[in-house]
Amino acid sequence: MSAPKYLAIVKKIEEFIRSGQFAEGSQLPTHRELAQQMGTTAITVAKAYKALAEKKLIESFVGRGSFVCNHSQLSDVIRAESLEQEYNLSILQPCIYQHTEQLNQAFSQILNRGNDALYGYVEHTGLTRHRALGAVWAHHYGLDVSGHEQIVLACGAQHALSVLIQCYTQPGDTIAVEDLTYPGILSIANMLGRNVVGIPMDQQGMLPQSLNELCQSMRIAMVIIVPSYQNPTAATMPMERRQQIAAVVNEHQLWLVEDDIYGFLNPQPIPAITNLAPDFGFHITSLSKAISPGMRCAFIKTPVQESERLSAFIRATIWLPSPLPFAVAATLIQSGEAFRIAEQQREIAIRRQCLAREWLADYQLLSQPDSYHLWLILPEEWQADAFTLAAKNRGILVSSASYFKADPRAPTPNAIRLSLMAINDESSLIVALRQLAELLKRDIRFDYTYF
Ligand SMILES: Cc1ncc(COP(=O)(O)O)c(C=O)c1O
Repeated sequence: MSAPKYLAIVKKIEEFIRSGQFAEGSQLPTHRELAQQMGTTAITVAKAYKALAEKKLIESFVGRGSFVCNHSQLSDVIRAESLEQEYNLSILQPCIYQHTEQLNQAFSQILNRGNDALYGYVEHTGLTRHRALGAVWAHHYGLDVSGHEQIVLACGAQHALSVLIQCYTQPGDTIAVEDLTYPGILSIANMLGRNVVGIPMDQQGMLPQSLNELCQSMRIAMVIIVPSYQNPTAATMPMERRQQIAAVVNEHQLWLVEDDIYGFLNPQPIPAITNLAPDFGFHITSLSKAISPGMRCAFIKTPVQESERLSAFIRATIWLPSPLPFAVAATLIQSGEAFRIAEQQREIAIRRQCLAREWLADYQLLSQPDSYHLWLILPEEWQADAFTLAAKNRGILVSSASYFKADPRAPTPNAIRLSLMAINDESSLIVALRQLAELLKRDIRFDYTYF
């Protein structure tokens, strides 16, 4: 006697899940669609799906359909380091190999000079010269600041965010963020027991009206905003939007953390929100995106009365960021080389955005002509996590929208973030974009060729 038909369907689907043809999180055909395709009845398919659900291979939801279960950690696919055969479109960093030689030279010059001050303890968590040149860097890109007094050094923007959250909010406090935001902010809040509320955005960033309404309805301890080339949507706030946000901050006397790490990419500097809310605004810049994340050099501009408090906090936690990379940063800023490297990276980003728009022309892309990343709206048959995993199975690392949600219970937008800068050479980037375009074209709902 031959095996019941439904078991043959179970076996086939199991094979496809194992081989990755049915990616984790992807939607299975409806009972009727599959029955028609296989010349059987919807009841037989329903029986097969039930057996697969019992094996914990798929999950069915009334009204939504059946999906392949997620067993792997999504964090596996957002990685700083990729395998040799992988294309990494998941990490936002500059095309470092372009200027590694310049950095090597700058570091050896500093080491050859043998300056004692770089090896000892330093007051105020940083040498005056390093802080003053941090002010020069931030001023160049739109921040009102003169002199070193209000500049505090930090070991990268992530460190800056974490010290500001620790210093200016309490456990249980609520922090407002863009409703899709940089996951590093979410992990700090999570670890430190701060609540996060996502504020809706449009293509110009966070909506001031929604922030205002939230502040009227509950106590918000801090708002964190990425005003230029927002991560992940690439939205950049024009001046008027910045004025409106500053007005809400001033009215509610709310701490503002303006994470301006991508501000150097603006073709013309846009004045910082902090300029309009100087009593409440902390402004963060960093060299991580323009020059090198490994240098861990960030600058925080504080309100006048807050520099001492923030410096004391940094002293109490790490004493001081190492002066050595800041000495290199200061030299590069003073000579103008830092600005030239930043501009060179912007030009690379412009070329790569053109390539991406060419290869992904059939899809809705949110980006700027010179942004490091883009936000790709997936065709409706793809879900973000399923696509991310399907791409990973083909050796391409991308970042699912689920990774950026301020509210984990909110529906996941059908989108992924692609970073165009981490791959060293343009020809490899083209290979990755071509493969992504091919994968995007596959309509997994109606692709029954495998049965
Ligand atoms: C918005 C934003 N802030 C902060 C960081 C972290 O920067 P850093 O390497 O300077 O810590 C990133 C890195 O992706 C980012 O996108």
